[in-house]
Amino acid sequence: MAKIEKFCLLQSKLPFLSVFNVIFTRRVEMASKKTSFVCQQCAYRSAKWVGKCPSCGEWNTLVEEIAPESKSKYQGKAQSNIKTVSPLHTLSKQDTVRILTSDNELNRVLGGGMVPGSAILLGGEPGIGKSTLLLQLAVQMQGKFLYISGEESENQIKMRADRIGIRNEDCYVVSTVDLRQILSLIDQEEPNVIVIDSVQTLQSDLIESAPGTVSQIRECTNELIRVAKQRDIPLFLIGHITKEGFIAGPKVLEHMVDTVLQFEGDRQYNYRLLRASKNRFGSTSEIGIYEMLNDGLREVANPSEILISHKNEDLSGICIGAALEGARPLMIEAQSLVSSAVYGTPQRNVNGYDLRRLNMLLAVLEKRCGFRLAQQDVFINITGGLKLEDPALDLAIVTAILSSYEDLFIPYNYVFAGEVGLSGEIRPVSKVEQRIVEAEKLGFKKFFTNIPKEGLAKKAKNMEVIQVKKVEELFQYLFG
Ligand code: TYD
Ligand code: MG
Repeated sequence: MAKIEKFCLLQSKLPFLSVFNVIFTRRVEMASKKTSFVCQQCAYRSAKWVGKCPSCGEWNTLVEEIAPESKSKYQGKAQSNIKTVSPLHTLSKQDTVRILTSDNELNRVLGGGMVPGSAILLGGEPGIGKSTLLLQLAVQMQGKFLYISGEESENQIKMRADRIGIRNEDCYVVSTVDLRQILSLIDQEEPNVIVIDSVQTLQSDLIESAPGTVSQIRECTNELIRVAKQRDIPLFLIGHITKEGFIAGPKVLEHMVDTVLQFEGDRQYNYRLLRASKNRFGSTSEIGIYEMLNDGLREVANPSEILISHKNEDLSGICIGAALEGARPLMIEAQSLVSSAVYGTPQRNVNGYDLRRLNMLLAVLEKRCGFRLAQQDVFINITGGLKLEDPALDLAIVTAILSSYEDLFIPYNYVFAGEVGLSGEIRPVSKVEQRIVEAEKLGFKKFFTNIPKEGLAKKAKNMEVIQVKKVEELFQYLFG
């Protein structure tokens, strides 16, 4: 203490020392409270700072936080209302009631609407449209919505809502980050649906760590989920994602909620994909597609139509692939440009496709099929800005490259689906019937894949299925 007194005396003489004073008192304060270092990825707690988390192995994820009190909340005897256990087969099945939203794509991804009492986490990059998606739901669907924003002021929310068009007069907005305030607002307003934008901004005064840290996120989310379950209302939480594409904050956040939705897309393009990476009440294979317009997000019911740009033009280097995203077949247009390299090293550029995969396909075409592509620049573009990982697109990419190389166009009503192997063989793809049915619906006439057509005859009446086993065979068929 003597040191502190000396310091204060000195400070009264030299006022500029007050800066040090602030730092000094903060240090004394921190020292009086027990702190520990918590991994922001896995919530591992350590007494001292280490560069690499011993639990999850991530680097630089430990942040100093004030340690919670060690006394267990569960000490003492159990509560009087002791639960009994019952044999599983005697339990009666209760159908989950679902609330249909005004947004059909969202309904589909959620597995048929919102489940009361469920917590739904929506993650996505900044500016992709998370706030727009949920605000649109709040202002267009009927029911009492409470939209809580820790990121924007009420005024900003109003401006955005005006763009979308307000149809729900029972939608309330508030700009706050304080958990206590939020809880009392929920008690007071009794909303039917709660939206929190975003969990990373929430702050509970019981936890002394900064907003966005593991302890804060865990505590606030836990409390909100408890309230949502108790009131039996759906709760939407918006979460930021990190550079690597994970939802910022601890993995525990994803464990706590019932559903995790990802909102993706390329900001250069207007199309957005909504998919579930976890869903306790439905499958994770459904996707929703939206288009960002000036007045909000538009649901895209028939994605293939917008993804195919030059339907009737006889251009070389364009080929349609039947891809599958989740459970949804999509007709995707692959564009390719092959031209002689001006510089020593030929350029390979992709947009919406994997560059390594393209290099592999080019090597196959060169070595196995004898095309001289080593001295050619190759550019690939998947229209719409979607990034698909379906290997069935290989065949469309290869066909587009060959079409551009030969400068011969592919008729617009041909569609391709197949994985290309290292020896130039075309492998069958999954769920080919679904792809064929979708392609037929869109008016395509010939479907190239490696599957015997007999089995498919009854499914595709107006579609000619052409079996191709090797790339050379396909080349012969198309270009003779
Ligand atoms: P936003 O919902 O704020 O993204 P997030 O919450 O994921 O960070 O989306 C913002 C972007 O969307 C912004 O760049 C503007 C654009 N936008 C439109 O194009 N049309 C609209 O009607 C709205 C509301 C936003
Ligand atoms: Mg936002």
